Amino acid sequence: MSQEFDILVVGSGIAGLSFALKVALGGANVAILTKKNQAESNTNYAQGGIAAVTSASDDLEMHVSDTLQAGDGLCDENVVREIIHDGPACIQELIDLGVDFTRLGDGRQSLGREGGHSKRRILHVKDMTGKAIEEALLAAIADHPRITVYEHFFAIDFLTVKKLWKRGLLPGEEADRIIGLYALNVHTDEVETFSAHAVMLASGGVGQVYQYTTNPSIATGDGIAMAYRCGLEIHNLEFVQFHPTALYSQTGERFLITEALRGEGAILRNLSGEAFMEKYDDRNDLAPRDIVARAIDQEMKKSGARHVWLDATDIAASELRDRFPNIYSVCLRNGIDITKDPIPVVPAAHYLCGGVASDISARTALPGFYVCGEVACTGLHGANRLASNSLLEAVVMAHRGALSVLEYLRKRCPSHISLPLWVENDLQDSDERVILLHNQDELKRTLWDYVGIVRSTNRLKRARTRIRNLQSEIQEYYWNFKVDATLLELRNMILVASLIVECALQRKESRGLHYTLDYSKQLSAATDSCVRK
Ligand code: FAD
Ligand code: SIN
Repeated sequence: MSQEFDILVVGSGIAGLSFALKVALGGANVAILTKKNQAESNTNYAQGGIAAVTSASDDLEMHVSDTLQAGDGLCDENVVREIIHDGPACIQELIDLGVDFTRLGDGRQSLGREGGHSKRRILHVKDMTGKAIEEALLAAIADHPRITVYEHFFAIDFLTVKKLWKRGLLPGEEADRIIGLYALNVHTDEVETFSAHAVMLASGGVGQVYQYTTNPSIATGDGIAMAYRCGLEIHNLEFVQFHPTALYSQTGERFLITEALRGEGAILRNLSGEAFMEKYDDRNDLAPRDIVARAIDQEMKKSGARHVWLDATDIAASELRDRFPNIYSVCLRNGIDITKDPIPVVPAAHYLCGGVASDISARTALPGFYVCGEVACTGLHGANRLASNSLLEAVVMAHRGALSVLEYLRKRCPSHISLPLWVENDLQDSDERVILLHNQDELKRTLWDYVGIVRSTNRLKRARTRIRNLQSEIQEYYWNFKVDATLLELRNMILVASLIVECALQRKESRGLHYTLDYSKQLSAATDSCVRK
């Protein structure tokens, strides 16, 4: 027996929660499945804030122009305009839900500045914006009569009409559409079946495929892998954004040091103390991220240093403690007093600009299947996301997606189809399972070494060969062993890694975040890369 809902939402970050709230208010019965506890998401760690035009001295067209410039010729201008125009209203909704964006002494919003923005326009809650948004959204959905949250439910794969035809479980004349999914109940180790008329995939990013990342452990690209296995188009995966400034530590952890710190005057220095960004871009330390990350990479390679410094010591100590309390205390725990000491920083994998192709209403090519947030590729970010445009895109697209899913349900309201139960493999071998962790390490190192900030065709091909070996091993495990979260995540990470490499090999130019030594020039026509099963 499967559990039946109108809509299934995969993910409980800003995108999934905002969407669920809206469709529930519209009368739909919704289940949110989330693979860990409900707050665990990239959203929860967002620091700098959310970009939107909210002050009289700013202008929507300037935000549009900054976004297009950062995106390096690959943004969809119409999408950029629509999302940026919807921003202020969505910000007001967050405020109405209780997100208490930081204000100045005179009551006006405190607006931060980050790389690539020509104006101060980042609304923030000190340096813990994501946590404040996540808490407000979780409070809004708590005890909602039409929302059920399934924590520790790991979505494995979607069910579609076509999959059932192929197994001879449905006659061929029904049109293809989404009909449900399988999810592993992590507490009972049982795979359960969920049936629905529509699905919103809001499963976030992929940072964990890299050895060094700012992303928490949930960011394993499950949604991209599931959508790919459903036959959907995946675009622009080569555009992995490396955040220039993560705290360097010998353990390999990469705590983010927000770009807003540079917005308030912190500067990057090499180990000789030279403020090097002026050599690379007129905007110095506030150039877009692709440029700053490459400059740091070059400085580190030139000198053999393990990090560069981020120097915030010219900012008043009281301001640093008040505006960046989380960074101040995390650094202090690591023996760095940011009011007196420079911070050792390095780039780390941070954000996926590409994703599952969707239109401006969050629709994909498969009826009933919608995507929003970091997992989606709408055309907003192009080849390089402008800082703090991600939370903005997620909240706007959740709103637009809610309108279009409610419309879909009103028009079609198809009946539930009886879904086949999961077929279990129950081979267990704990010794073999250790190998999964080794394979995960190998994958992460391969991506870091060969598919990083500076690429070449040779390195990409080397990565492809290694990933193919890992892929054949994981397939064997998947078909022979009882599934658990580690196995499922690794299977998805390997698939997503292979798709990143394929997209990177398709792009015969350097553009935005994709910089390759073999094609230093840009092609005159900018096109999306695309992979599809
Ligand atoms: P997420 O918030 O990542 O949520 C994804 C959800 O899906 C999680 O609940 C996860 O558990 C769930 N999930 C994933 N796979 C499965 C599965 N198989 N089954 C069930 N559930 C699953 N952006 C900005 O605009 N401004 C910022 O200041 C900013 N700061 C950042 C700081 C850090 C440290 C990081 C990591 C990112 C930051 N970003 C920022 C990026 C931004 O936070 C994310 O892009 C955004 O929060 C993504 O939201 P989302 O809802 O799409 O995904
Ligand atoms: C940051 O605070 O520097 C991260 C902002 C973002 O990823 O948009």
